[in-house]
Amino acid sequence: MKLQLIDLVYLLAASLFIIGLKRLQSPATARRGNQIAAVGMLLAVGATLFFQHILTPVEMIAGLAVGGLVGTVLARRVQMTSMPELVAAFNGFGGLASALVAGAEVARLQGEGTAPSFATLLTVMLSVLIGLVTFSGSFVAFGKLSGKISGNPVRFPGLKILSLLFSASSVIAIIGALLTSDLSMVVALVLTTAGLSVALGILFVLPIGGADMPVVVALLNSLSGLAAAATGFVLSNTALIVSGALVGASGLILTNIMCVAMNRSLVNVLMGGFGQESTAGGMTKELAGRPITETSPDDTAILLSYAQRVIIVPGYGLAVAQAQHQVRELADLLQARGVEVKYAVHPVAGRMPGHMNVLLAEANVPYDQLFEMDEVNHEFQTTDVSLVVGANDVVNPAARHDQSSAIYGMPILNVDESRTVVFLKRSMRPGYSGVPNDLFFSPNTRMLFGDAKDSVTALIGEVKALLR
Ligand code: TAP
Repeated sequence: MKLQLIDLVYLLAASLFIIGLKRLQSPATARRGNQIAAVGMLLAVGATLFFQHILTPVEMIAGLAVGGLVGTVLARRVQMTSMPELVAAFNGFGGLASALVAGAEVARLQGEGTAPSFATLLTVMLSVLIGLVTFSGSFVAFGKLSGKISGNPVRFPGLKILSLLFSASSVIAIIGALLTSDLSMVVALVLTTAGLSVALGILFVLPIGGADMPVVVALLNSLSGLAAAATGFVLSNTALIVSGALVGASGLILTNIMCVAMNRSLVNVLMGGFGQESTAGGMTKELAGRPITETSPDDTAILLSYAQRVIIVPGYGLAVAQAQHQVRELADLLQARGVEVKYAVHPVAGRMPGHMNVLLAEANVPYDQLFEMDEVNHEFQTTDVSLVVGANDVVNPAARHDQSSAIYGMPILNVDESRTVVFLKRSMRPGYSGVPNDLFFSPNTRMLFGDAKDSVTALIGEVKALLR
């Protein structure tokens, strides 16, 4: 009877996970989706602890209070821009937990003197391998994102050979564990696989540049789900299998979305070396000497105020300058003058998935003014002004026609089709990809140099002056 009830609760929890995931598709419903999935997880964990008599209700409430407190403090203290680091740490702990639970099952069976079945042992070994690669890889990613480890790709002679050697040794240890009937040998091989997996995770992430860490974190997120699903098989726990599979699949889909939006293969990302932030000051040699049209806040304010349709394109520089509130204020002022204002969001603008959506939501930009690339791209032709705030690669036409360019094939926002393009940035420096942008020199482009927050603040002042 109890077993049936727990299965029903697991079914309900799995349904809530799926409804939650579905709602994460739109910024308007994402918050509720997160809450629904969290309720599902609470039900699944609560049902397991209660029906399996693992904890008493009092102990469960105490655990909930401590966990809830830690979660609340974390959520309040972590900056939005540090979110990838936090996710990396969560993935790491998730992988470690899966490996520890699977390892504990072997220890339990050894204590009882029972040999684990082939299926149990296989899933234990997979859980230890994937879980600990995820653990150590995620903490290297955390270190790179938080600046505690150099963001540069770290390579040394023999790195690939060492990785191959460790991978082959793990496979041999797993096969050995599956073939032996000696329980203490099984334990020794589980521990050997654990050590090799930790080393493999470090070797896997070290050679990848810091700027590619968001893609790596998404992939590690997927791996943490697979480790959890493997542990679910070890424990025959349906809720863990379902939630692990959902995390595994959604992490993989996100990784793929990011790679497609950058027009790079996953292999290319994992090989590392792309996307070193440009530290060179001023223009690159091939750009020097070509004429550009520099503009001022008062001229730009006139352009914007007398436009019928304006599209704002936010990019990484908006996040650096933290100009989202000023951008919203400028848009409100223009809308009050009857100008139609939309925001065009490229899938990989910024440095993390949903980076621009999060910033604009923080400034309470109405969701119905946010448009994804495919929804808005045909509208640039009929747009008077495209205001590009700290974006560069995501509007670079080289992606369309320059086959030799590192960003060739990456889908871009067609700002060059609008009547006038105004770039708000500090210099002529390229963006993340290091690819120069020819659009800066186009006759319909204006360059408004300066920190994005200062420039937008100046624009607000000028638009207000026009209203007086
Ligand atoms: P970028 O191409 O990196 O360009 C950002 C621009 O912002 C720079 O050219 C910089 O020019 C300007 N900037 C920086 N600080 C500024 C400030 N305080 N005020 C004004 N401007 C400032 O950004 P993007 O167009 O958003 O493209 C994103 C890039 O990141 C793509 O190549 C994408 O593939 C990559 N990427 C994205 C992700 C995700 S998931 N979003 C993950 C990994 C990689 P100045 O220095 O001249 O100011």
